[in-house]
Amino acid sequence: MATNITFHAAGLTRTERETERNQRGLTIWLTGLSASGKSTIAVELERQLLRTRNVHAYRLDGDNIRFGLNKDLGFSEADRNENIRRIGEVAKLFADSASIAITSFISPYQKDRDSARALHETPTPARLPVCPSSRSTLTSPLRLLKQRDPKGLYKKAREGIIKEFTGISAPYEAPANPEVHVKNVDISLQEAVDQIINYLDSKGYLPPKKE
Ligand code: ADX
Repeated sequence: MATNITFHAAGLTRTERETERNQRGLTIWLTGLSASGKSTIAVELERQLLRTRNVHAYRLDGDNIRFGLNKDLGFSEADRNENIRRIGEVAKLFADSASIAITSFISPYQKDRDSARALHETPTPARLPVCPSSRSTLTSPLRLLKQRDPKGLYKKAREGIIKEFTGISAPYEAPANPEVHVKNVDISLQEAVDQIINYLDSKGYLPPKKE
């Protein structure tokens, strides 16, 4: 634990950043089982936000972040808690900088997702304005995911080669009241992305579409 540190409060407020950039900061939190389509949707969502709304958005991806920032973490409950704690903090920094953070992590535990949300909604000691966060959740029946199994991980988990695999030998707690619930079965990628963008528009979080 660091001691003798002081929060440096001076600087631009988030309102000033948002006004200068003409963009609201927010986090779009995608949660769902492995192979439910989080990364695919996150990529397309990022692309369309940049292209059609002229906003800055950046994707934080579960697998990718585990090659860098979180390469010291595995898949025990404690490591997943720490994985999501760090991502909540990083997403908040992006959102606070008036960008859109798109997180695509299984984030299986309700408690961890609640903490990430609370972090966004709690003013820091410097009393930065509250940062709105929005959440999305993806569901596909486990049966379908096992069939799809693009990385062959469900098969390995069933054979016991991968331990603590979400949905097989580790829990997934689906959010009770997500802002957006993308039922990613028999819908196109565009329909999935539209559901999220429509939600953001309904809240007034995005500038209008470019002509
Ligand atoms: S989380 O549970 O801590 O949120 P995260 O999203 O970072 O997980 O990583 C999940 C990805 O890691 C999966 O998409 C899959 O490719 C890979 N993976 C490897 N081992 C496991 C496991 N035991 N459980 C779930 N995913 C795993």
